[in-house]
Amino acid sequence: MLLYCRPGFEKDCAAEITDACAAIGVAGYCDARPGQAFVTFHALPVPARPLIADLRWSRLVFARQLLALGPAVALPAADRATPIAETVVGLAPGFSDVWLEHPDSNDGRALSRLCRALRTPVLKALAERGVATDVTDAPRLHVFLDGSGDARVGLADPRNSAPWPLAIPRLRLPRAAPSRSTLKLDEALQTFLGATERERLLRPGMRAVDLGAAPGGWSWQLARRGLRVTAVDNGPMDPRLMAEGLVEHVRADGFRYRVGRPVDWLVCDMVEQPHRIAALVAGWLRRGDCHGAVCNLKLPMKRRHSAVREALARLEAALPPSARLGCKQLYHDREEVTAAVVPG
Ligand SMILES: C[S@@+](CC[C@H](N)C(=O)[O-])C[C@H]1O[C@@H](n2cnc3c(N)ncnc32)[C@H](O)[C@@H]1O
Repeated sequence: MLLYCRPGFEKDCAAEITDACAAIGVAGYCDARPGQAFVTFHALPVPARPLIADLRWSRLVFARQLLALGPAVALPAADRATPIAETVVGLAPGFSDVWLEHPDSNDGRALSRLCRALRTPVLKALAERGVATDVTDAPRLHVFLDGSGDARVGLADPRNSAPWPLAIPRLRLPRAAPSRSTLKLDEALQTFLGATERERLLRPGMRAVDLGAAPGGWSWQLARRGLRVTAVDNGPMDPRLMAEGLVEHVRADGFRYRVGRPVDWLVCDMVEQPHRIAALVAGWLRRGDCHGAVCNLKLPMKRRHSAVREALARLEAALPPSARLGCKQLYHDREEVTAAVVPG
């Protein structure tokens, strides 16, 4: 398998996929070089059925993308498209799409022009060989240029993989947003909630508490969906956001603040140890003080994978019966991951 991750998190991504495979009885080894922004996992012995069918992309925290790894292709500079097309013929009867990608690392980003330039010749070479690239429900073909001069071929199940090229959701930072952090909550709501869930669970008039809210990027995301927000922080909130009238500012310690009656959402972006944030959110869930929650978990420099696992175990233990827990290192996350409890 080929997994994309944030550069610097290769070891965490490798530890996580190794654990996930061990849990389904598959052993293997990873190639996870620091800074390369991807990891390959090689099962030993090679399993009879594709390993990827037994894994869920949405359940992996550090993997931005999850692909079944196909053959490597040597790319002669004179004609790169022909060897790619010849390699992928026969891998599947057709593909739903073809994405040419590179690692999200400094070296990798230098390949973005080449990836763009190669798309049309690759599509043409595939068409000439009778390979359709618009087949609904077929695997998506990923051609991954890793900078070695070769390409790696990957196949994704569109229902079990990130739906964005390079696994990067392109979100615009709205001018009125009080902080760049706003993109984290925007991405979280798009990642953890489906479109109909966003309509059902984020409606005007609903109520939310935002712990560690200042200057208000997360509150702004909720307010722009019509929610009324209590923003808890000793720091100052953005005056333009406050003037809109949907956000109330409470200067208090987020660890002590309590609500009188339950709110629809608790969101929390306080900079604290992940186990403390998880315990805090778990308390809100257990008391029934919130129905859903989104929290950012700032990671320590070491033992990041195990710190996330411990925090998630605390949240899992407090999950209301019909709710589900998700956690991802989002594209807009840095040394952190985002967890979400989505009500049923
Ligand atoms: C990363 S910033 C939040 C940014 C915010 N989500 C946004 O989008 O603009 C973290 C905030 O947590 C607040 N904070 C840290 N510890 C806190 C605590 N114990 N109680 C309340 N706020 C706290 C800080 O004052 C800071 O404003």
